Amino acid sequence: MGSGTGLLEGKVAVVTGGAQGIGFAIAKRYVEEGARVLLGDLDLAAAEAASKELGGEEVARAVRCDVSSYEDVEAMLDAAVDAFGSLDILVNNAGITRDATMRKMTEDQFDQVVSVHLKGAWNGTKLASLIMREQGSGVIINMSSISGKVGNVGQTNYSAAKAGIVGLTKAAAKELAHLGVRVNAVQPGLIRTPMTEAMPQHAWEQKMAEIPMGRAGEPDEIAKVCLFYASDLSSYMTGTVAEVTGGRHL
Ligand SMILES: NC(=O)c1ccc[n+]([C@@H]2O[C@H](COP(=O)([O-])OP(=O)(O)OC[C@H]3O[C@@H](n4cnc5c(N)ncnc54)[C@H](O)[C@@H]3O)[C@@H](O)[C@H]2O)c1
Repeated sequence: MGSGTGLLEGKVAVVTGGAQGIGFAIAKRYVEEGARVLLGDLDLAAAEAASKELGGEEVARAVRCDVSSYEDVEAMLDAAVDAFGSLDILVNNAGITRDATMRKMTEDQFDQVVSVHLKGAWNGTKLASLIMREQGSGVIINMSSISGKVGNVGQTNYSAAKAGIVGLTKAAAKELAHLGVRVNAVQPGLIRTPMTEAMPQHAWEQKMAEIPMGRAGEPDEIAKVCLFYASDLSSYMTGTVAEVTGGRHL
């Protein structure tokens, strides 16, 4: 058991995009709470380094996976079952940005973002639910964004994909509730990760000014909510969307 209180003792989790940022923070929390975790990431070397940092192959493993590929996601979930014996939790977290105003955005930038976020979350939700329905239990958490609620300039691709994830989450929640599988979504605001550190300073400052709590969030503040959704603490919640934004865009 890790240094937590064993909320996920005996559970097996898959976290996509788990090599860094929010996904890594989620995996770390899960391991601390007693789960064994498989990290699926496009960057295998980074995912392997991350799994080592989480305690090595007894508790954490890594596979290369492009979440926009149905076959890759299927192989990733099978790898978790092979390594650890079940699949109790899936966090569809992998993501990219290709920001540009619509005038400049290419069709390819639109397609890439929709396929990683929306198709990726659908691949995971569909394929994990096939395993979880056999078990009669499971939890799926889809990483949306507050950008999907309010729409951000320069993010017609990303806002559309993140709003689509909310619809996917609610529809899947209704289909899977009677099978013991819960599906919920998280909408982070501005969180300090490699993704947001790549933003120009003026964009960062503009966003900061909109946050009632007056600061950006840390990856672990998203991980704590994902722990709540993964654990029995949220046993009567499905199809919900948690805004974790320090009060921004209420
Ligand atoms: N950081 C924020 O402020 C913020 C806010 C709202 C939502 N989010 C969402 O949270 C999630 C994590 O964001 P982050 O800030 O930690 O990003 P990040 O860029 O730090 O990490 C993303 C990870 O996903 C992996 N990845 C990218 N494309 C992939 C693919 N096709 N298949 C598998 N793995 C892939 C990357 O290799 C990387 O390890 C994303 O879905 C993002 O949209 C982030």
